[in-house]
Amino acid sequence: MPAIVLVGAQWGDEGKGKATDLLGSQIDYVVKFNGGNNAGHTVVVGDQKYALHLLPSGILTPGVTPVIANGVVIDLGVLISELDGLEARGVDTSRLRISANAHVIPPYNTVLDKVTERFLGKRRIGTTGRGIGPTYADKMNRIGIRVQDLYDESILRQKVEAALQGKNQLLLKVYNRRAIEVDEVLAELLEHAERIRPMVTDTVLELGTALDEGRTVLFEAGQATLLDVDHGTYPFVTSSNATAGGACTGSGVPPTRIDRVIGVFKAYTTRVGEGPFPTELDDEHGDHLRTVGAEFGTTTGRPRRCGWADVVIGRYATRVNGLTDVVLTKLDVLTGLEKIPVCVAYDVQGRRVDEMPVGQSDFHHATPVYEELPGWTEDITAARTFEDLPVTARRYVERLEELIGTRISVIGVGPGRDEVIVRHDLLGRDEA
Ligand code: GDP
Ligand code: IMO
Ligand code: MG
Repeated sequence: MPAIVLVGAQWGDEGKGKATDLLGSQIDYVVKFNGGNNAGHTVVVGDQKYALHLLPSGILTPGVTPVIANGVVIDLGVLISELDGLEARGVDTSRLRISANAHVIPPYNTVLDKVTERFLGKRRIGTTGRGIGPTYADKMNRIGIRVQDLYDESILRQKVEAALQGKNQLLLKVYNRRAIEVDEVLAELLEHAERIRPMVTDTVLELGTALDEGRTVLFEAGQATLLDVDHGTYPFVTSSNATAGGACTGSGVPPTRIDRVIGVFKAYTTRVGEGPFPTELDDEHGDHLRTVGAEFGTTTGRPRRCGWADVVIGRYATRVNGLTDVVLTKLDVLTGLEKIPVCVAYDVQGRRVDEMPVGQSDFHHATPVYEELPGWTEDITAARTFEDLPVTARRYVERLEELIGTRISVIGVGPGRDEVIVRHDLLGRDEA
């Protein structure tokens, strides 16, 4: 029984939530290993639409145990309201397990995230303003607050005091804000501590034991390859490791146990926030993709920047993550276009570049080299086998597969749970 990692192959919002939900009934555990409530996953089940931020999407499948692992940063208030919201809609959340080593997002870091962005002005990252960056920075600076600290008030007070010592100087003297009181922070953190206490556990032990017992564990990444702090378009990235390697450090499950890595790749490209994006379209084609694809952020509601598919990024995602399968989402959004350009390489100041440029300046200056593929006009949302697709849609999928270098095992033809074409089993059970 395998351990599977599922990652975003582009800049996020590829449809990871739906892909996880699709695997729901075949898995025992679903683990969130990075990020926090900067993520926004929309899952459509029948006429019900769910927006998940902090909880892994597998929570919607009865019987699956959701895990928030050590690599996650948790906003306690958001966690509780997400749990309450799901319970009110009849979703059982009682199985949730939370790592005692996960870090908590204290209220001062949400404030700092927002003021830092304001001060950066036109050099801002365009963060979600959820305190993600400052909380990971505190973790590395060894002044972070962990879930386990919530259960020793004297330790918690000491840690908050230590963190606020520097942060209040920054708020007062650099950002011209009011200082934050220790008691105010403690009250906010402790408000939710008892509620989550029964869920807090040693998730490393629990996941290791589950794998020993032959259970299937899915690791669901937040964000995506190009938002990874090491492998993405730094500094326009998030502050965690969203690539496959992050599943190991973020959960304590070793690389030797990972069997498969699934990359979710949208049939075109989107990005939220600032940073380079070679295939971005500032014309009516971009508007078309945004409107038809409903490309507005699940977390912040911001319109997503849209552009054509970029297989240089697809190849890069294959290499960095070791993809075994690709889930190609939103093919239906391309219906009705006469020609569909696919970026196969870049032109960097007159030079053709076939792989991700090593220098960030080159990537900023890269213009796409396109190959144009013929489009289709038939509605494909009812297609359930590859053969149901028009020949040009099949050709588009096969060409992407060839250029990305990983088999496309599942194709999304609509937002609904059933709107998929499964070509290969994602758990690899159809392999010799
Ligand atoms: P995530 O962050 O990667 O989970 O993706 P988001 O949920 O932020 O954005 C993906 C959006 O596309 C959601 O609104 C999904 O309901 C929707 N979606 C997923 N797969 C498909 C698909 O194959 N076709 C269409 N039309 N929509 C899809
Ligand atoms: P899912 O999981 C798309 C982007 C932000 C910003 C940058 C840093 O839904 O794919 P942060 O708040 O993380 O410090 O912001 O990363 N970003 C996302 N973009 N999808 C996401 O998550 C994102 N999470 C963060 O827009 O550019
Ligand atoms: Mg999203």
